[in-house]
Amino acid sequence: MSRIAHAGHPIKSPIDDDSVRRLLEHGLPRGDERVLDLGCGGGEWLLRALTTHPKVHAAGVDISEEALEQARQEADRLGVRDRLELHQLAADSFSSPEPFDLVLSVGAAHAFGGLLPTLEAARKHLAPGGRVLIGDGIWERPPTPEAVEMLGDFADLATTVEQVVAAGWTPVHGHASTRQELDDYEWANWGSLAAWALDHPADPDSSEVLENAALRRTEWLRGYRGTFGFLCLILRRTAD
Ligand SMILES: C[S@@+](CC[C@H](N)C(=O)[O-])C[C@H]1O[C@@H](n2cnc3c(N)ncnc32)[C@H](O)[C@@H]1O
Repeated sequence: MSRIAHAGHPIKSPIDDDSVRRLLEHGLPRGDERVLDLGCGGGEWLLRALTTHPKVHAAGVDISEEALEQARQEADRLGVRDRLELHQLAADSFSSPEPFDLVLSVGAAHAFGGLLPTLEAARKHLAPGGRVLIGDGIWERPPTPEAVEMLGDFADLATTVEQVVAAGWTPVHGHASTRQELDDYEWANWGSLAAWALDHPADPDSSEVLENAALRRTEWLRGYRGTFGFLCLILRRTAD
């Protein structure tokens, strides 16, 4: 279901292509960086960094073999496979002899137990003077207990940035997803699932998929639309 739901939105976070491009530009000021993505999924951030920056080298870590296989196939198709290494591992058990100039982790903070532990993990891989590109949820309005139950607990924009600064990081660029980006992502997910079910009425999973799409759409519209937001930050260490 996840593969179908994300087919029309290869970045598995509520960020549009232009925002992704601008965030990568801020994360890759030289253009020859070593980049690590913790929780890379289908590798979409890395593939975009590699195709737009011919001197970048990248490593991606994810637990999903299916997502990594998709990243491999896309990297082959785009002719960047020789600059991409992929590791099927829990992100907190990855280690590398060489540090990275940009460490990315977008929409995968649950793998480390939240935003600040993710930053602590990213820091261990960071070269001196390096940058982190982190993406995680924020609350745009106080959440209901049901929204917290569904999505996990976050803080508002100002509090999130203050927490990050208190942990020793300086934001040098940021992007809070717009209502359009947030809505597009939800429609891409639950709309694609519903469309697949309608297009495959004879498939034994079709009615379950259609029910699931309706349930998730309702959870979004009644539960967290207008409450859940998404923040990406480019961070540098304030002092090492
Ligand atoms: C919402 S997706 C984000 C993927 C990608 N960063 C993007 O923005 O397109 C979250 C990813 O985290 C991965 N993940 C979850 N737990 C993980 C863990 N413990 N270690 C590594 N990856 C993990 C999932 O397999 C999934 O690919």
